[in-house]
Amino acid sequence: MKNDGQDELDTEYFVLRDEEAGLDGVIALHSAALGPGAGGCRFWHYPTREEMMVDAARLARGMTYKNALAELPLGGGKAVLRVPEGPFDREKLFAAFGREVEKLGGRYLTAEDVGTSVGDMQAIASETRHVAGLAQVPGRPGGDPSPWTARGVYGAMEYLAQQQLDRPLADCTVAIQGVGNVGGALARLLHAAGAQLVLADTNSERLAKIATKTGAAVVAVSEFCGVRADILAPCALGAVFNAVTTAKVRAAIVCGAANNQLASEADGVRLAERGVLYAPDCVVNAGGIINVAAEHLGWDTAEVVRRVDGTAERLARVLARADQLGVAPNLAADSLARERVRVGATLAA
Ligand code: NAI
Repeated sequence: MKNDGQDELDTEYFVLRDEEAGLDGVIALHSAALGPGAGGCRFWHYPTREEMMVDAARLARGMTYKNALAELPLGGGKAVLRVPEGPFDREKLFAAFGREVEKLGGRYLTAEDVGTSVGDMQAIASETRHVAGLAQVPGRPGGDPSPWTARGVYGAMEYLAQQQLDRPLADCTVAIQGVGNVGGALARLLHAAGAQLVLADTNSERLAKIATKTGAAVVAVSEFCGVRADILAPCALGAVFNAVTTAKVRAAIVCGAANNQLASEADGVRLAERGVLYAPDCVVNAGGIINVAAEHLGWDTAEVVRRVDGTAERLARVLARADQLGVAPNLAADSLARERVRVGATLAA
């Protein structure tokens, strides 16, 4: 059942450098067993290349699992780019990245992630067709995947509130960490459903704007894990839950969009031991990649809706497996994903 990072040993890395364009990054390809490695491009601040590689590898493995659990014909990959220290030409930088994606000839499919936008995808598309999340053609899947991610998380949350707390979201308090593209959309959905909101974000301007619109209370970022709420929804960066923060959790449910919310597998076990139901991020945050897959594979919007709205059902299957095996939900999700990847690899062989 345990993984211990062993299956990251097979990850392939492609170092990306173009000094003139300010490009400095890495593409990590984790698995191609179920299809081309698909996963967004993160544009973030990294002190060292090693940290970029570690983050890319973890995120690429997460994409393998997420795509397998969402039953998509895609493998796992991720790109991580460092934000340059000085001034830079954004379009030039992402076009240079597009040339690197093109060199892989379709083994890697990119899209948005933290720090990147539809405009950046358009710049990448000037150099390669292996990119999704482009400006939307009316009536077709495409555009910013974040609203789809928020919709999937919301559906999972609605299901869990009913299953675990026996009440609708209108009678719940939900705390959201990070009110960016996904967290902001999630806040709007929850507000429309009548839920009480508590918000935390390092960007105080964005936080104030969304709090005003949704009548939400605001807490300091450091208080998020221990906040008094029914549901915690981490929607910022990863590794939110560790040995220290899991001990502070008072909420009954954790269900959010951020990738890799657990610092380690053991933190999922710690949450379960405290009676907290953790909805594995790789199960509930697949809405965006479903939309990306649809755009790339030519599915229509009705298919995206059907698959995104199937999030709660896929989560229920993972939770049933966890119960059956007597393990924490994160371990059940990982083992199911690995099983699907193994079957895919066997069929492809
Ligand atoms: P974003 O960059 O639009 O929003 C992130 C927000 O978190 C920003 O408002 C930022 O100020 C805030 N933030 C950063 N550090 C924080 C901290 N320590 N505490 C509180 N707030 C903090 O990113 P986006 O697209 O909304 O993604 C959020 C998370 O969801 C990421 O982990 C991403 O990998 C994951 N995700 C996003 C998907 C998408 O469709 N955009 C799909 C699946 C996962």
